[in-house]
Order: sequence, then structure tokens, then C-alpha cells
Amino acid sequence: MDLNFLSCPRIICKAGSLSQVGELVSELGGSRVMLVTDPGIVACGFAELAMSSLSAAGIAAEIFDRVAADPPMEIVSEAVEFARLFGADTIIGLGGGSSLDTAKVVALASTSGQEIEGMIGVGKATGRRLPLIQIPTTAGTGSEVTWVSVLTSAKQEKLAVYAPQLLPDIALLDAELTLGMPRKITAATALDAMVHAIEAATSRTRKNLISDGLADKALSLLGQNLPRVLDTPSDLAAREAMLMGATLAGMAFINASVGSIHALSYPLGSHFHVPHGHGNALVAAPVMRFNLIAAENEYSRLARVFLPDRIFSNNAEAANGLISAIEGMFAASGLETRLSQLGISAEAIPAMAQEVSTGLTRLIASNPCDMTYDDVVALYEDVL
Ligand SMILES: [Fe+2]
Repeated sequence: MDLNFLSCPRIICKAGSLSQVGELVSELGGSRVMLVTDPGIVACGFAELAMSSLSAAGIAAEIFDRVAADPPMEIVSEAVEFARLFGADTIIGLGGGSSLDTAKVVALASTSGQEIEGMIGVGKATGRRLPLIQIPTTAGTGSEVTWVSVLTSAKQEKLAVYAPQLLPDIALLDAELTLGMPRKITAATALDAMVHAIEAATSRTRKNLISDGLADKALSLLGQNLPRVLDTPSDLAAREAMLMGATLAGMAFINASVGSIHALSYPLGSHFHVPHGHGNALVAAPVMRFNLIAAENEYSRLARVFLPDRIFSNNAEAANGLISAIEGMFAASGLETRLSQLGISAEAIPAMAQEVSTGLTRLIASNPCDMTYDDVVALYEDVL
């Protein structure tokens, strides 16, 4: 065995726990907090809830609410400067994956002094970070327990910082924050989490005993609870199960790697601003069908975890059942299921396929099957 499993040291999961954030910052020894978030989260009142808790604990705090989707480097640099000027000694990320990914880099760069450009890549970041608490408001990215931050360059390329320092001190899961998520965001983020678990479980490079166990439990929670939260958005127990499922899937994929579904999804986000979960959902079923030749056994095993009430007569039927179930959840979500519905035309495919085959080779290497440029073109055409 060659295992090197990294994870967040403390995960708190409790409805209403956002109101404890002030005490948690005190436990970490912080007295000046920068809250990294976006305008939507401020409008929901969640930033104010956090600020009240911080104030009650006697902690000075400032809100940075300029985080944007597919976080542009320029805004992340602004956030780092904001932390330095304020003299922040603790960073809190509150929001979806973009806010949490921005908070990670702020916690590190604001104290290490390293330029963000120098951090791009695997293990390039130096120094230690400020104390960091991550509070997700979607059940999807798992960013609260991963050590990757995906940013977007001025040229609209996806740039990833991988560094163990990006793991937070505390991941705080408060399902009350996810109760108001609109149907389409609930579905898109859940499909992202399901894809994390599926790609982790079928990774050719780093899958391991721990990531396999986490992926199974994640798929079980996500498969059984997505229909519940879509039917009854206010079902707190189901929302909490989704949040925990997404976190477990995050722990799995960061240690096992994702594969070609993510590789094909990234250019849709960076070039066309398709939300990350929606991008994954668009290409998930075609990529899984492509992978069947190598992944049938693993998909069939996952199908039995994901769909425990279904009876399959053989592995091929079960593997196809998993793919159909993912496809069915996507169709039921109300999200657009074709690239053309999002204004993406056939002319865009060669450049996206080029980016996948030359720029995202690390992800293709983890996919269950090899995938050439022509394969990628055909897969995009399949969902045009
Ligand atoms: Fe993802």
C-alpha cells in the first residue's frame, strides 16, 4: 500500500451552528476576522448572522463580499490585499465553492507573502496560512475539506493551486444555510458531488481504501436524499444528509483525484461560465458510457450503493442503471441538457477539446480509460 491521506482535522455538522462561529474563532485564538463571501450570501442574511456571532464574542470583523463565480485571479488578489490592510488574523470562507476557494488562497497568501501566480500547480505554495474556517452554503463542491483552489486567469484559463496548507482548521456544516437553495442549484451542486464520488471510486491513479469508503457513503447519502430535497426543499434532515454527502465526496476525490467528467466540464466553466456542477452534469453520462469498457464492475458496485432499492440481474445492467439514474436526475433538475441551449456552438468544440487533451492531462490520467483529442470532440458533439 502507498497511502498518504490528508484531511481537515475538525468537521462540525449541526443545524444552526453558524451562530457558534464567534466561539470557534476564539478557540482558534483569533481576534480580527475577514469574512470572505459573495453578494448573494450577504443578501440572504448569512453574513450578518456570522458577524453577529463574531461581535458577541468580542471579535473585530470585516466582510469582503466581492467574490465572483469561477474566481478571477484579479479579485482573489484584491481579497488578499484586503486581508493585509485589515490585519486579519483569521479567515472565514462563507458561501459556495468560489468563496471557499478564494478564502483558502487569502488565508495563505496574506501571511506567506507569496504571489498567487507562484502558487499555481501541485505543492508550489510555501509558508503557513492564517487560521481558517470554511462554511459551505451549497451541498456540492466539498471545497470545505479539499486542498485545491481553482481560479480563473485573465485569459479565462482554469488555474489550480494544490497545497496541503489549504485544508482549513474547521469545516462547519450548517444545513440551515442550504434550505433556501433554488431547485436548479440544489440539483447542479448535488450532481457535482455525485460525480466527485463516482470519479474518486474509479480513479486510475490515487484511489485507495479510505477514499473508496467515503465515496460509497457519499453516493448512498446523495442518491437517497436528492429526490427528497427536490420534492421537499425544507426537509432539514435530507438537506443535512446532502451536505454530509458532499463533504464525504470532497474528502474522497481530493485524495483519489477526479477524471474526465471534470476535465470536459472545466472549459465549459472558464469559456462560457457554465456553473461547475451544471458543466459536470452535461458531460457525465456520455463520459461514463465511454468509460464503461474499463469501469463496468466499479459502476455496477456503485449502482447498488446509489440505488439500494433496485434489483439488477447482472453487472452490465447495474452499471447502465447508474448512468441512467444520473441522467434521470439531470433531466429532472430543470437544467439545460444540451450545449446548444447554453449558446455553445460546434465551432467552440475544437478549442475546448484541445484544452482538455493538452492542459488537463492530470485528470485524463485518472480517468478509467485513455481519452484522445478525437474522443473528447466526439463526447462534446454528443451533448451539442
Ligand atoms: Fe467538482
